[in-house]
Amino acid sequence: MAARQTVMFLAVVFPLSGLIQGFQPLFSFHGKSTTHRDITQRAVLRKTAEVCRDIAASKGRDFSLTIDDSLSADKVQRACSSTGTSSSLLSTVRFQTSIANMYFSNAAVDVVFALSEEYHFDDETFERGRDVITAGVAAVKASVKLENFVAGRWTLGRVCHTLQDFYSHSNWVELGKTTPYSTLIKPDQLLENLAGLSTPTCRNCTGGNCDNNLLPDLLQQGLLTSGYFNVFSSAKPAGKCSHGGTFDQTSRQEPVGGINKDDVGSSHGSLHHKAADLAVNATMELLEDIRVAVGDKNFLRLIGLSQSSVLCFVIDTTGSMSDDIAEAKRVSFNIIDSKRGTQQEPSAYILVPFNDPGFGPLMITTNADVFKDSINKLTAMGGGDIPELCLSGLQLALTAAPQSSEIFVFTDAPAKDAHLKSTILALIESTKSVVTFMLTEVLASRRRRRSPQGVSSREMSQSDTQLYRDLARASGGQAIEVTKSSLSLATVVIEDSSASAVVTLFQVVRNPGRPDHFTFTVDGSLRNITAYITGASSLTFNLTSSTGVSQSSSQSSGPLASFTTVGNLRRISLNTDNQTGSWKISVDSNNLYSVKVTGQSSVNFIYNLVEAHGGAHGDFSLKEGRPLSGGNASLLVTVTGSDTVNVTEVTLCDSSGPTEVNGSLQSVGSGNFLVTFSGVPAGDFVLRLRGEDSGSTSRSTLSSFQRQASTQIKTSSISVTAQANNTNIEPGSTISIPFTVATTTNGVVNDSATGTFTVRANNDRSYTLTSPSRVTIAAGSGGKANGTVTLTAPASAASGTDVTLTIEAENAAATDINYAVLRLSVAAKVTDITRPVCQVVSSSTSCPSSSSLCASSQWKFIANLTDGINGTGIESVTIRQGNGTLNTSTVAGAGGENITVAHYSSSCCSQNVELAAVDRVGNVGTCVGQARESTTAAPTTTAAVNTTSTGGNTLIISHCLWISVVVSVLWK
Ligand SMILES: *[C@@H]1O[C@H](CO)[C@@H](O)[C@H](O)[C@H]1NC(C)=O
Ligand SMILES: *[C@@H]1O[C@H](CO)[C@@H](O)[C@H](O)[C@H]1NC(C)=O
Ligand SMILES: *[C@@H]1O[C@H](CO)[C@@H](O)[C@H](O)[C@H]1NC(C)=O
Repeated sequence: MAARQTVMFLAVVFPLSGLIQGFQPLFSFHGKSTTHRDITQRAVLRKTAEVCRDIAASKGRDFSLTIDDSLSADKVQRACSSTGTSSSLLSTVRFQTSIANMYFSNAAVDVVFALSEEYHFDDETFERGRDVITAGVAAVKASVKLENFVAGRWTLGRVCHTLQDFYSHSNWVELGKTTPYSTLIKPDQLLENLAGLSTPTCRNCTGGNCDNNLLPDLLQQGLLTSGYFNVFSSAKPAGKCSHGGTFDQTSRQEPVGGINKDDVGSSHGSLHHKAADLAVNATMELLEDIRVAVGDKNFLRLIGLSQSSVLCFVIDTTGSMSDDIAEAKRVSFNIIDSKRGTQQEPSAYILVPFNDPGFGPLMITTNADVFKDSINKLTAMGGGDIPELCLSGLQLALTAAPQSSEIFVFTDAPAKDAHLKSTILALIESTKSVVTFMLTEVLASRRRRRSPQGVSSREMSQSDTQLYRDLARASGGQAIEVTKSSLSLATVVIEDSSASAVVTLFQVVRNPGRPDHFTFTVDGSLRNITAYITGASSLTFNLTSSTGVSQSSSQSSGPLASFTTVGNLRRISLNTDNQTGSWKISVDSNNLYSVKVTGQSSVNFIYNLVEAHGGAHGDFSLKEGRPLSGGNASLLVTVTGSDTVNVTEVTLCDSSGPTEVNGSLQSVGSGNFLVTFSGVPAGDFVLRLRGEDSGSTSRSTLSSFQRQASTQIKTSSISVTAQANNTNIEPGSTISIPFTVATTTNGVVNDSATGTFTVRANNDRSYTLTSPSRVTIAAGSGGKANGTVTLTAPASAASGTDVTLTIEAENAAATDINYAVLRLSVAAKVTDITRPVCQVVSSSTSCPSSSSLCASSQWKFIANLTDGINGTGIESVTIRQGNGTLNTSTVAGAGGENITVAHYSSSCCSQNVELAAVDRVGNVGTCVGQARESTTAAPTTTAAVNTTSTGGNTLIISHCLWISVVVSVLWK
């Protein structure tokens, strides 16, 4: 609590930039320093490439990518894709988004845990710093086990921050070390050679030069230390090194100066690059530990290397929906069957039924047959005369689907839970998922069922439909209104969206409608360009190509396109892929309409709102919630799918008016741009990006392109900030999250404002929470109102479960809403920190010395693996190296512990084996064996181990040691 109030206080008193300690989080504008973002990205890309290389090798496929620091997400994903051809359409949006999530959560440590010494390895907190890492790694493994990859990534980014800071803040580099300090990721090993509290470590820097401030004795003895850091007090133990820098008061106290290597200008800035390179290797080592624990396939899912989209349906299951359900089934089966085994095979399937009074349960699976089975079991029954819990069902889907998914909602009824609208909008904005509604019965006046009282309340009024239209619009989806009999013609939009690498070129809604014309740029990378227009049946349009050829809506098939009409939807499929340049669509209608133009292309972009910490050298962190009306907004934009793109323009376009705000662009390297908009007026905006690509096509001409983000960006005059002082929550415990609500004018808190705000707090796990229902800004309170939300994780909550908490504040007039989003994960204290232990039982048979004879001989290796009497038990044993066969059996040991006996046998052509044993909390122990041909007489088994323990009860002795056994099978 105290720490958090300090952070709030600090945020007011200091520009937060001064508090950044550690490598710069995201950007290095001045000089050529390496940031946490660079370190994380390099490590993730290199480790991912290594995993793909090993998978390729095991399948006998080529893998030609050179693994070095020049890797890009595009190169890695292309090399990892099994077809690997450079020409195939491939979207790296998901991979880039996952990497961004990791570096944003990494950067957030400097905000959330700004003053915590153990999160930064300050003040010689090696034990507690290591605990932060190992508890975090256990939480990542637990999340992956539950397939909560989003939570896993979030925690992983955070853990990486602490690990990386070690190399900047300690004297590891100065000790001449050239490999990572592996003990930091191994909770069962002792941290050795730590400088004691009374051991002096530094002397004064001389004349501002800190090159030789570490005491020679310390270096000679190889003792480990780190700098002390405090922004308030200069107190530190006698003779200790400081972190250094303007904000570190301790560095002004003798011994003056510091030892950090955060950037090239730091006290030990000359070692900055060495520290950063070691931090990359250390991050890779941590990733490798997770990889072995969760397996290659899950590792790649954690890292976000999954190029296909998910198939996500939210289906009304009341009585009148049987035709719709049958159609949802038909179209999903069609997608599954036509894409099975291809790269476009959905990476997961999500199904959420709803009716009244129920909704859910949510079904999420990676197994297409499980999904088929679930959708087969859906039956339409009951209900029929009351509105349904549509938004509750949608809420479940939005929280479970990966970011930027497209969700299809099938219903023929109004939503009973319209009060969830603002919560759903907040979820849409924070997940950037697209919601498309397949509404039946809206138009079908002939088929309306009548109840004895007259018109059935299932019939949707304009305002009922408008709710769905508003949600579709905010997300970049569509509200498609068709009769039940023609639904099967409309579901082609679902098949369109499941194609690979779908991008949006342009999208607009006119409400109320008015005749208008719209232009969009077609570039050479686009394939299968499709336009969708929804609107009244009287709507007409005219399409004009870049060469001036026209086609009107009276020609359903013409020189430019062919189109079909079903319900309120016209789907226009362009004939040509390569007529680049500026196209025009003119729409004539005075009723509400929408236009959306999509295509398939590798070139796309991702963006995230970021918030400056202030100060001239300030950095940024991810901002969730709406940007402030009249204030400045910053975005980090990353172009995907091309290394040759130049972004020329990023614009916020008011979706209902002519207002456009141009951002100023600053390149921050490798396709990333920091875009700053000043004075964003109140409104709903869409983000449009224009650029030129010199290399994506075979033509050497510059190709202009445009893309548009799906999700609307709404501004708000309310500021909502909330910060948990911990991002983990233990099962059965309650955490308090203080939040602050303020009114702003032109992006600045209006400190004389007063008012009352309605507060709504939600979490996606239905955990118990308490929240004030309103907060009031009283006169004289500086324009701010505070409140506290508490959240309780049930005792039965599984470690690794993610919880997203949203705190919304709405003004009294109900005209403005803003919200804060907090991501927490359930993490039980891990008590089993020891790795499974390997004990070689025997190895038999010998291998001939001539490799030409190897195929006809076999060798065997038997080992006992145990997790000890207090361990969680061995969950899996896998072959890390060697292509023989492995069988395991379980027997009871002398002390009652379970022993997993591994029998490995292999042809003599493969003479090494490495087995990995993983216990239930993800600790990894390995076991190494080797068959060596030799001409010596007797067979000998040698164990090269770092302990000599063997036998049942000595496991207690050996429980904190990792035994790596090398067996040499010698020639008889
Ligand atoms: C170290 O520097 C401080 C501050 O400049 C000074 O007061 C102190 O005498 C110096 N100590 C030594 C041993 O030079
Ligand atoms: C990091 O690892 C790579 C490859 O494993 C190695 O070539 C490089 O020298 C290492 N870097 C440092 C700073 O130790
Ligand atoms: C375009 O769509 C057609 C049919 O829908 C499909 O066969 C083709 O593969 C698509 N093109 C690309 C580049 O995906």
